[in-house]
Amino acid sequence: MTIFFFSATGNSLAVAKQFGGNLISIPQVINDSKTQYKDDVIGLVFPIYSTAPPKMVSGFLNKITLEADYTFAIGTYGNMDGACMYNVQKLAQKRGYRFDYANSLLMLDNYLPVFEIEAEIQKMPKKRVEEKTAKIAADIKNRIKLQAKASILMRALASILKVFTSALEGAKGYIVNSGCTKCGTCEKVCPAKNIEVKGKVHFGGHCEACLACVHLCPKNAIHLKNEKSGKRWRNPDVSLSELIKANNRLK
Ligand SMILES: Cc1cc2nc3c(=O)[nH]c(=O)nc-3n(C[C@H](O)[C@H](O)[C@H](O)COP(=O)(O)O)c2cc1C
Ligand code: SF4
Ligand code: SF4
Repeated sequence: MTIFFFSATGNSLAVAKQFGGNLISIPQVINDSKTQYKDDVIGLVFPIYSTAPPKMVSGFLNKITLEADYTFAIGTYGNMDGACMYNVQKLAQKRGYRFDYANSLLMLDNYLPVFEIEAEIQKMPKKRVEEKTAKIAADIKNRIKLQAKASILMRALASILKVFTSALEGAKGYIVNSGCTKCGTCEKVCPAKNIEVKGKVHFGGHCEACLACVHLCPKNAIHLKNEKSGKRWRNPDVSLSELIKANNRLK
């Protein structure tokens, strides 16, 4: 089994790890010339942004073809998944491959402009992540097929919400305060090679708005103008070094 994943704060990687198989980080292969992948089972795990996959995940889905007996796609999200999984299945179909099983998993919402992390942590027991992950893992093991559904309203909302994510892109909203020690962690956790630490922290113009740099700075020195939370999040089942290994493209 091969699982492709994208993860900024560890939720999606924590889930992918529970499914097992050979885990491949999408940022590490996004520029590869290889576009055809073959295995008995191929899966995809990623966070849902503005009820859609991250830009890089959409780019990946638009260039690959998958050859497998069974395929699945799981989107992790914190509040509303909208038409995301429906659209991912449609996109694969258009490209000539398929996802036999598409599902979403409610986890902690790391979107700082709207959510307060401490309050989100309090909601975790009600989200029953462990139980739902085990159910999805069993579905995958049993090769269950699942077609995601979405109302016309949710499909329309996906297009409208895209605007909100692009408001963050281009690093317009990031402030680095005097707590920064130039340690370079933000540079290493950025899946988009969008940060350079040289004298100071420089943001480029191709941000994915994933918030990995903001959540994972060891000094909590990166802030958003409109953040609702001073507290940060990294999934406790994933280490900082696992996220660096997954996202660092400057090695
Ligand atoms: C830019 C951005 C947009 C997001 N949009 C949504 C959304 O539309 N719906 C939702 O439920 N969660 C949304 N989230 C929350 C993430 O999908 C959720 O926290 C996810 O599990 C994070 O996965 P990761 O830890 O693997 O990066 C968003 C997060 C970010 C950073
Ligand atoms: S991770 Fe934080 S402390 Fe380290 S260089 Fe980046 S902003 Fe500075
Ligand atoms: S600059 Fe920060 S938010 Fe943008 S892609 Fe890199 S890590 Fe993610």
